[in-house]
Order: sequence, then C-alpha cells, then structure tokens
Amino acid sequence: MSTTREPLSAANAGTVTLGDLTVNRLGFGAMRITGDGIWGDPKDPAETKRVLQRLLELDVNLIDTADSYGPEVSERQIGETLAPYKAGLVIATKGGYVRTGPNQWKPNGKPEHLRAALEGSLKRLKLERIDVYQLHNAADPTTPLAASIGELAMMQSEGKIRHIGVSNFSVAQLKEALKMVKVVSVQNRYNLGDRASEAVLEECEKLGIPFIPWAPLGKSNSDATTALENVARRHGATTGQIAIASLLAHSPAMLPIPGTSKVKHLEENVAAAGIELSTEDRGDLGITN
Ligand SMILES: NC(=O)c1ccc[n+]([C@@H]2O[C@H](COP(=O)([O-])OP(=O)(O)OC[C@H]3O[C@@H](n4cnc5c(N)ncnc54)[C@H](OP(=O)(O)O)[C@@H]3O)[C@@H](O)[C@H]2O)c1
Repeated sequence: MSTTREPLSAANAGTVTLGDLTVNRLGFGAMRITGDGIWGDPKDPAETKRVLQRLLELDVNLIDTADSYGPEVSERQIGETLAPYKAGLVIATKGGYVRTGPNQWKPNGKPEHLRAALEGSLKRLKLERIDVYQLHNAADPTTPLAASIGELAMMQSEGKIRHIGVSNFSVAQLKEALKMVKVVSVQNRYNLGDRASEAVLEECEKLGIPFIPWAPLGKSNSDATTALENVARRHGATTGQIAIASLLAHSPAMLPIPGTSKVKHLEENVAAAGIELSTEDRGDLGITN
C-alpha cells in the first residue's frame, strides 16, 4: 500500500529550475482551456477560470501555454484571470505555429512571425517580458533553425524574453540551438506509451535542465495500460495519477504539465505529486530510477 502526502500541493513533487526561476516540479498545461480541436472558446469558461484560480491554491507555479492555443484564447484567459500575477508564478508560452482551423497546425518559424507572435503574447498575458519563451517546433521547412533561434536571441537581448526554451526538438537540434543561446528547457511528447524522446530526456539530464513531457497522460499501448491499471489498483489511484507519478519518479529532470479544463481533474492531477511508488511499482512500470 502506498502513502499519499498531504496537503494537496504541487510542492510534493519537489522543485526544478528554469534558469534563475525555481518552480514546483508539477506544472499546468493550458492548452485545454480552449474549444474542441484547441480552437475557440472553452465550453465552460466559468469552470476554466476556476481551474486557473485553483492552480494557485494548489501551489502550481508554472503555467505552460502558447499563442496558438485557441489561437489566443488560452493566453487571454490567463491574462484576464491571473494578472497581475502572484509572486513566483512563471508563465511559459510559445510561438512557431499558425492555426487555420480546429486541429490544424502549420509550423512557422520565420523571424517576423515569431516577433509578431511574441508581441501578441505580451499583450494578452499583460506582461512586459516573458519568463520562458519556447520555440514551439523545429519543423518549418522554409526557415533555417538558426534564423528562428537568432530572432529569439535578439528579442532576449531587447529584454522581451527572460529565458529561451525549445519544443519538439531532437538532440541534434537542441545542440544546434545551444551553440547560439542558453536553453533552459525542452518540451517534447513523452508518456509511458511513447518514449521516443528518451534520448532528449537524457540530454536534458546531462545539461541539468528540465524536460517537459507533453501529453503526460497520453494514450498508452496495452502493456503500459496493464501496468498502470495494476499499480493504480494497489494505490487506490486513477491510471492518470499513476502515469504522472511514474514520470516524476523516472527522472528528476521531468517536469510534467498535465492539462485539464476541470477543477476536479486538476485536483486529481496535483494529488499525483504526492504518490510514492514502491520498488515493485517501478518494476511493473519499467521505470529505471
Ligand atoms: N509543445 C507541444 O507541441 C505541445 C503539444 C501538446 C500539448 N502541449 C502542452 O502539454 C500540455 C499537456 O498535454 P495534453 O493536454 O495534450 O495532454 P494531457 O495533459 O496528457 O491530457 C489532457 C487530456 O486529458 C484529460 N484529463 C486531464 N486530467 C484528467 C483527469 N484527472 N481525469 C480524466 N481526464 C483528464 C483532459 O480533459 P479534461 O479537460 O476533460 O480534463 C484532456 O483531454 C498541454 O496543455 C500543453 O500545454 C504541448
């Protein structure tokens, strides 16, 4: 039987640093406070507002968003609900996609696009400087990576960006970016059923920077699902909670950002920070640490 730490707090996950900023090691992904297909307004705006307010009570002090979520909808709600921000709250946003409709994402890493995107994010988030600005992807075939990173470096030198992060990067792309700027975090898809970014996670461990797994609850393959169900039963927890706990246990560099539009789900996800996995659990889940 496991022990779950009280009180309900993201601080139970410990902390990580993003440059000179320290945050609890369980953040919040704000992609889900939008409509279907990450497009338009959420179905229940009053509830998504409560989610944002409840985050603060649960000591979640990293919110991940992007100009493309909605588009603009996620950032606007964060700015309208939470600004002026509580001391210590870190907002990480991203640029590098344009949206043409629900579930449609087109990479755009052109310097002029990134600059316009950042200016829009500053306005919607009601900030003069973005604490962590992430290049959302390295997938724009029409723009060399160095041009995108170079523009972020320029905006950092102008005081509009405090720290630079990257997302959906390979190890080689991360190394290329590191030749130009200090990178404080990498955000790639990672969950128990999809460990394609394991090498990127290992590189983050070597560099001593957080790896932010997106889709942490993910869709698991059948082996992973069976393991999650077995461990969840032992803990009287949900499989989603064990998925989050397993990522936290797998690596101290891991900084999960589960996303939800519902207070009840947020509370469940934060409770996962207090779940202590046994050696048997770790074995079943294939966790190496
Ligand atoms: N960098 C990138 O390219 C990229 C791509 C995707 C996502 N992200 C970031 O990563 C964050 C997390 O990724 P994600 O939102 O795709 O995946 P996720 O956090 O693994 O899963 C979110 C989904 O699970 C549901 N959910 C959350 N908590 C739950 C709970 N306790 N019980 C039942 N269902 C629950 C949510 O629906 P409800 O609203 O109903 O709870 C939502 O449909 C995003 O919010 C975003 O910030 C980044």
